[in-house]
Amino acid sequence: MDDATIALHDLSEQVAACPKCALSKTRTKAVPGAGDPHADIVFIGEGPGYNEDQQGLPFVGQAGKFLDELLASIDLRREDVYIANVIKCRPPNNRDPQPGEIEACAPWLDQQLDIIKPRMIVTLGRFSMSRYFQGQTIGRIHGQPKKIDGVVVVPMYHPAAALHQANLRGTIMEDFKKLPGILRELSQSAEEPAKPEPVQMKLL
Ligand code: URA
Repeated sequence: MDDATIALHDLSEQVAACPKCALSKTRTKAVPGAGDPHADIVFIGEGPGYNEDQQGLPFVGQAGKFLDELLASIDLRREDVYIANVIKCRPPNNRDPQPGEIEACAPWLDQQLDIIKPRMIVTLGRFSMSRYFQGQTIGRIHGQPKKIDGVVVVPMYHPAAALHQANLRGTIMEDFKKLPGILRELSQSAEEPAKPEPVQMKLL
């Protein structure tokens, strides 16, 4: 196993035993995240629901099925990316995560991102969006990439939103279709040789 795989595995074990907020008392299993430790893309959802809490894996319920479809639409499988959440334990009755829970959990996600070093982060829903885009609304900025601290962040609707609002289904699908092009552009700009400095003519 390489360093990133080992580090992510160790981190997942720490998350599984995390006592940092009250959700640790009501969870069945913590859900650290899953996928390729060397992924180019990290998807960040909100938090575990019933099925995720039972299995200890992210996005394994209805929203996860749709996420799999969205990934397949751009020729990716979940093993090709990394999938994490803003909070790692299920809030009772699937209520919204509270600010104190998000704050207590943030260092886990920070460390995951430090280990994986993705080229692109896709936020799913408003809680992960507000890590990067404070005061914004998803309706205004979805699908629009922005480079933040060297990583391209693309805010998207949460796949569960499309399960409740049929008109969002097409919007999320369109936004997903943009991801391969954005990654390609990133690769091209990384490959472009730096322009040589203009030669200074010495006038005698
Ligand atoms: N919704 C999320 O935000 N994350 C999951 O893991 C599952 C559903």
